[in-house]
Amino acid sequence: MGLAEDLNALKEEGLALISAAGDEASLEEARIALLGRNGRVKDLQKAFGQASPEEKRELGRLFNEVQQAIKSAFEDQKDQLSAGAADAGAIDVTEPRPTHRRGSIHPISQVAQEVERVFSGMGYDIIDGPHIEEDEFNFGRLNIPEDHPARDAQDTFWLKTGKLLRTHTSSVQSRTYPIVEPPFRKVVVGKVFRYEEVDATHDNNFTQVEGFLVDKDITVGHLVGTIKTMIAAVLQRDDIEVRLRPSFFPFVEPGFEVDVRSPGSSGKFANWVELLGCGMIHPKVLSIGGIDPDVYTGFAFGMGLERLTMIRHDINDIRLFNGGDLRGLHQFKS
Ligand code: DAH
Repeated sequence: MGLAEDLNALKEEGLALISAAGDEASLEEARIALLGRNGRVKDLQKAFGQASPEEKRELGRLFNEVQQAIKSAFEDQKDQLSAGAADAGAIDVTEPRPTHRRGSIHPISQVAQEVERVFSGMGYDIIDGPHIEEDEFNFGRLNIPEDHPARDAQDTFWLKTGKLLRTHTSSVQSRTYPIVEPPFRKVVVGKVFRYEEVDATHDNNFTQVEGFLVDKDITVGHLVGTIKTMIAAVLQRDDIEVRLRPSFFPFVEPGFEVDVRSPGSSGKFANWVELLGCGMIHPKVLSIGGIDPDVYTGFAFGMGLERLTMIRHDINDIRLFNGGDLRGLHQFKS
């Protein structure tokens, strides 16, 4: 057999061998057998070296062509194999991840959402105001002048600008009155801040719900009915009893503290629990806000959500809420 036939036979065999290689190891074997130092191409190269100059001229082109065909078949096959391997290693998005943990809504946010839902159902607008507040809105317009002792109970963080972090959501009342026309009903759920030493039952920021309604002929009866509805929804019970005790807040008259109990419940709510402050909006507060107290009356209430949530879920340390320890928070998946 002449060298030309040998070359053609090598080309055919070589290409077959390469395309049969199903993985990288057998492709490498084929490469060594064909192109390696003692491989078939080298053998023919040796025979080619011994050919006469005329033969060389004739066969040179064929030799290069065969060698080139084998090399490029090898490269192609290599590419195909590694593309296949990449496919096999592609991420399977449907595969369940054993370490994957679902997030959960913060327990305070859950209660906040319930409160907002209940008040939306009663026709209230859900609003908010700034955390960084002016003295005037946090105190002055709520009938708490600069030298009033009621300020002592609400020490807070002051900014160099003279502004402060709001101590209660009642500040949203003072912001709202000048810009709305009665009748209206509004509810705010938001953060408030106090200069407090942090311990198991106190934090320097917490969450309040503030509701206020202004209309003609509003009475304490409307206030009590509203509070009962809210508490029953948040505690998910229908046997809620409400008790009002006279109390003082400069922005309401009369003012009350509200205790609630649910006689059928076995937990802390079986006995009276103090939950919130409320009252009929002080005529002075209404008129500072541009609302005529001879025509309109209204009620307002403010309630801390942390305490309520702690009793509801039997949580014994308020620091759970802002502490960022997910082991605690994950227990309250809704
Ligand atoms: N702002 C009061 C506080 O943070 C709570 C409060 C009491 C709000 C009586 C009211 C209210 O709207 O009528 O201590």
